[in-house]
Amino acid sequence: MKQTVFYRNGLAKMTAMILVSAIIVLGAISASAANAPSKEDTRDFLRPMEIPQGKGNIGTPERVMLGKSLFFDPRLSGSNFISCATCHHPGLGWSDGQPTAVGHGMDVLARATPTILNTAYQRFQTWDGRERTLEKQALGPIIDGGEMSQDMDSLLIELKAINGYVEMFEAAYPGEGIVAKTIGKALAAFERTVVSSESAFDRWLKGVDGVMSESAQRGFGLFKGKANCIACHDGFNFSDNGFHNIGLKNVKDMGRYKIKPVKVLKGAFKTPTLRDITLTAPYMHNGAYTTLEEVVDHYNAGGFKNAGTLDPNMKPLNLSKKERQDVVEFMKSLTGDPVEVTVPILPVK
Ligand code: HEC
Ligand code: HEC
Repeated sequence: MKQTVFYRNGLAKMTAMILVSAIIVLGAISASAANAPSKEDTRDFLRPMEIPQGKGNIGTPERVMLGKSLFFDPRLSGSNFISCATCHHPGLGWSDGQPTAVGHGMDVLARATPTILNTAYQRFQTWDGRERTLEKQALGPIIDGGEMSQDMDSLLIELKAINGYVEMFEAAYPGEGIVAKTIGKALAAFERTVVSSESAFDRWLKGVDGVMSESAQRGFGLFKGKANCIACHDGFNFSDNGFHNIGLKNVKDMGRYKIKPVKVLKGAFKTPTLRDITLTAPYMHNGAYTTLEEVVDHYNAGGFKNAGTLDPNMKPLNLSKKERQDVVEFMKSLTGDPVEVTVPILPVK
């Protein structure tokens, strides 16, 4: 009798315990679903295993070192005063902190300086994508009258007169000499080493707890959902490598249309990376916005009518104030840990 009672009570107790633990387990699963990345997130946003390399230009240490010296060397410019790093400054997220670039003779240029961070992963270079490879792009600013205003032939003579460079070029590209092509290749090899460092978002993707605020996590959900940023800013580098007119006010620059005269590309510019985005204000090809809040307000309004063709993915979003803040918080979680950059000692003789 005693035994039966015990048995009965035990059964009831066991059932209750099973029920309670089932509730706890289910609760934990649903809670972790809100706080943990999905399989798709990990697949879509984790860094690819390898940095893409240039065709016939694998980044050896000699090439990277040469490219870094050239990148920081003001003698690459006509004035001997402006280096690539003047505009793409490592202390300013490899950009310049200006609404639009300031070039040769302090002239204010029409477009903003994009970061060179993660350009290795881009299919197109510059805002209108006129160059496909970093090797070719690198020569553009040197000879551009507005940027470095250098005569290539004079530059080659100058560099050949510096023994240190003669040796570095020979070590990096044996037998190829000091020519425009090897300058472009070396600069590109260096640029491919400028990649984003691990951010709170990356750690969260890898399953580390407590690294991304609730707000940033909600922001990621909005980014992929209601705010639809993902339509253009997708993948590890947060860019579809495409060109879109997002309806900035007063845009006269027709962007990609000048390279490919198709009506939908009127006023379209390349989708920029959002990695390290807190370091590279002001934003947009024309420096139109100074804060991420302003950027999100722009998208929330669905963009504005300009002289170009508005992208079909630009629509009013109806995000609440809290939701807009969440999207900003998410973007902040994409800034990587600080990286120390050593400025090279340049060869003088
Ligand atoms: C006067 C400032 C200035 C200097 C100097 C300069 N750049 Fe730039 N850079 C810019 C601007 C502005 C753009 C955007 C041009 C455009 O879209 O038409 C740009 C674009 C780029 C891009 C494309 C990035 C992207 O995301 O599309 C790369 C790569 C780059 N520059 C590398 C270099 C290298 C290498 C040098 C030195 C040889 C250099 N830049 C010198 C201002 C500068
Ligand atoms: C239709 C494609 C598209 C959508 C949707 C989109 N973007 Fe963009 N984004 C772009 C393009 C293209 C640019 C550059 C536009 C220009 O300068 O003319 C840009 C620029 C930006 C910049 C400035 C980057 C820089 O370095 O200057 C930020 C920040 C940004 N977008 C965040 C967002 C957020 C957040 C959302 C969602 C609310 C979003 N974008 C939705 C295509 C898009």
